[in-house]
Amino acid sequence: MVSTPQKPQAVQPGVKVPAKDTILTPRFYTTNFEEMAAMDISANEEELQAIIEEFRVDYNRHHFVRDEEFNQSWDHIDGKTRELFIEFLERSCTAEFSGFLLYKELSRKLKGKNPVLAEGFELMSRDEARHAGFLNKAMTDFNLSLDLGFLTQSKSYTYFAPKFIFYATYLSEKIGYWRYITIYRHLEKNPEDRIYPIFRFFENWCQDENRHGDFFDAVLRANPQFLNDWKARLWCRFFLLSVFATMFLNDLQRSGFYAAIGLNARDYDIEVIKKTNETAGRVFPIILDVENPEFYERLDRCAANNIKLGEIAASNEPGFVKTLQKLPLILNTAWQLIALFLMPPIRVDQNWSVAR
Ligand SMILES: [Fe+2]
Ligand SMILES: [Fe+2]
Repeated sequence: MVSTPQKPQAVQPGVKVPAKDTILTPRFYTTNFEEMAAMDISANEEELQAIIEEFRVDYNRHHFVRDEEFNQSWDHIDGKTRELFIEFLERSCTAEFSGFLLYKELSRKLKGKNPVLAEGFELMSRDEARHAGFLNKAMTDFNLSLDLGFLTQSKSYTYFAPKFIFYATYLSEKIGYWRYITIYRHLEKNPEDRIYPIFRFFENWCQDENRHGDFFDAVLRANPQFLNDWKARLWCRFFLLSVFATMFLNDLQRSGFYAAIGLNARDYDIEVIKKTNETAGRVFPIILDVENPEFYERLDRCAANNIKLGEIAASNEPGFVKTLQKLPLILNTAWQLIALFLMPPIRVDQNWSVAR
């Protein structure tokens, strides 16, 4: 994994300065385009074509239209809630936009070389552009917007080899699906918690993410070598843990946002992790043992450390004192993550012939 910082330009006045990059902020990715173009997907081409046909139908063509309900003042969402709300919109917009950039670039580079993948990426980038645009428009309700052009140039890009791109994007699409649908279903049952109209759009929105996830599922199956050996089992374990831990730490740090829409951040994450883990078992050879109490005991320790790290960073102590205070917390988090990684996963590849 290599990060290449790009040269930033000045942000225009009135436009939100992008949040500072940390290990937990949404990332932008790049890959080896030649290797991706040379990928043979013929083993599962029929399924891929069927998914692309669904993309072409474009079920959400008319979905992302702002209606009457947006046309009001949102000043009553104020104080800390407003801050957390804006942060939620910004992070979501950045994550969606990151998907757009990667898929768009892939479709451009693969055009004429790998037409099936190129078309799939092109149509997924269409969806992600819509999602990012809709979130960015929502930010204007709070008198802010993100300069996506600036973001494109100023963010650093993380390099992943193609097979890692597929594990990571598969998981991020599926976890995105479960995150959106879980919020949607909660607000459907508790309409008094729906403090802003964007959540109403999540039901159809998450179906885009679900279809994107299915596309990557099909690409992975076209390449059984990504799924059927001990290296695959280790990498799937690594990516599942990274995605779950990143979400858990991020969300518990922002539990106030979830409380504002009537959700307990920890319970919400446990539900999303459980569902995403189950879903991943349809294609990954292993899933994590998330029912083992040790799993959340260790994640809770990481989340508590992360919150303390945030408090130390925000304090007025001199730099060297902060470093000394942070060190044991960082070491403990690293230890917890290693212990989590070493927890025996659950083999699911033996059940595949039955489940499929
Ligand atoms: Fe999306
Ligand atoms: Fe997506």
